[in-house]
Amino acid sequence: HRTLRVALLGAGSVGSQVARLLLEHGDDFAERSGASLELAGILVRDPDAPRDVELPRELLTTDAESLIVGADIVIELMGGIEPARTHILTALNSGADVVTGNKALLATHGAEIFDAADQVGASVSYEAAVAGAIPIIRPLKDSLAGDRIARIFGIVNGSTNFILDKMDREGLSAEEAQAIATDLGYLEADPTLDLEGHDAAQKAAILASLAFHTRVSMDDVHREGIENVTADMIEGARRAGFVIKLLAVCERLAGSADDEAISVRVYPALISREHPLASVHGGNNAVFVEAEAAGPLMFYGAGAGGVQTASAVLGDVVSAARRHIAGGVGVGESPRQSLPTAPIGRIMTRY
Ligand code: HSE
Repeated sequence: HRTLRVALLGAGSVGSQVARLLLEHGDDFAERSGASLELAGILVRDPDAPRDVELPRELLTTDAESLIVGADIVIELMGGIEPARTHILTALNSGADVVTGNKALLATHGAEIFDAADQVGASVSYEAAVAGAIPIIRPLKDSLAGDRIARIFGIVNGSTNFILDKMDREGLSAEEAQAIATDLGYLEADPTLDLEGHDAAQKAAILASLAFHTRVSMDDVHREGIENVTADMIEGARRAGFVIKLLAVCERLAGSADDEAISVRVYPALISREHPLASVHGGNNAVFVEAEAAGPLMFYGAGAGGVQTASAVLGDVVSAARRHIAGGVGVGESPRQSLPTAPIGRIMTRY
């Protein structure tokens, strides 16, 4: 077996689980990828900070440059724009394949990152960036590459779903439900990212870019969060046979204008209790994909959580290792078309 050096950037709730699973199951991954994966080091801000998962002290480092240069696969799980962006560009330019869960970075600087990867023939994979453990990126990129996608809609933020679900099923106030979601580690370090719909908008931008072979950035996404949803509104909806869910919708608008456009939007919507989305409870996510030939498809599972999301990261790591061993070529992430995004807001009645 050839040995591939893996650098892990970040040891938060997902990163520490990735490290644990790599150390525990390294032999399985070697079997599956044809390469031994050696965890060369873990970049952290403070090696002495307390962590949920105990990690070997000798692997922890604060020296990004020496860890990244010389790695074959770099896993970026720090989140945020900088220094994650710089580290990923350094990794690509030094010949590494990159695995990231960084939706904020991809939804704002995706073009720069994918162009850099294309230029050096490296790969950037990001299954963990959208809908946690649920395989949705690779199905859109690979399995459905021969189809034409008309619409994607669903629940792509676990913490707000958890909060709305607690309020609906247990009659909790928004504050009470949010406190529990925080304890479970579902919310981003800055909870307004979840509550105001930024996190869902980032994921919607990533999904729309893939589905429609174009570039959609966060700024193109119409966004409303759940910060104004009260216990009274949820109770009123319940009595009328609805549940309130934070929806992300990405769709083609074939219509009046001569050009086809797309609409990408995130907003709290009334969902009929009979719709399958109404039974997406807790921190789960569900994504519906409507493709011309395939028809409707549903993807469902854990949308947040450290160990669940680590599964998506490790799948990408095994793929990157296989690709590395095969001397892989660029993945051709650059989109072929440029579609205008139309400023459509809420549509409450169609689901
Ligand atoms: N804060 C995110 C969520 C984590 O609640 O869905 C997973 O991306």
